[in-house]
Amino acid sequence: MLKPDAVKRRLAGEVIGRFEKRGLKILAAKMMVINKELAETHYGEHAEKPFFKDLVDYITSGPVLATVIEGEECISMIRKMVGATNPQEADMGTIRGDYAIDTGRNIIHASDAPDSAKREISLFFDESEICEYVLPDEELIYEEP
Ligand code: GTP
Ligand code: MG
Repeated sequence: MLKPDAVKRRLAGEVIGRFEKRGLKILAAKMMVINKELAETHYGEHAEKPFFKDLVDYITSGPVLATVIEGEECISMIRKMVGATNPQEADMGTIRGDYAIDTGRNIIHASDAPDSAKREISLFFDESEICEYVLPDEELIYEEP
């Protein structure tokens, strides 16, 4: 999910482009303004953290671009491309390392495990909004079909 800072800073295309160029497949993408309830559910694991209120305020402060992205080992690969939570600790070349400065304005959310990806996708998308299709250049990207 591209967070409101990414959308407002017109970085959404840039970031999605990185995933596309890597060879990943965009199955769904939707601009939306998240309400407080959805934000609190999405980030429920952080409910007891001191930064929770700021996090919910931030993620509901403007439009986000929610996406579903598919590819082999996609979750760990995207987490690596995203970089460390604190952009100042994120490697150069990562999304947060290249575009962000503060932890509370770190551009992008990425699911951290298959279970959380499933849960989060179902929070943001109906099944009918997720497009299944074949990339015509898959054999140029993957060794095995
Ligand atoms: P997400 O992909 O957004 O879930 O980030 P993450 O998995 O790298 O980090 P984590 O799940 O631990 O934290 C969720 C979000 O809460 C982070 O992306 C930050 O925006 C915010 N956050 C985490 N730790 C802090 C903190 O110490 N201070 C503040 N202000 N925000 C924090
Ligand atoms: Mg997280």
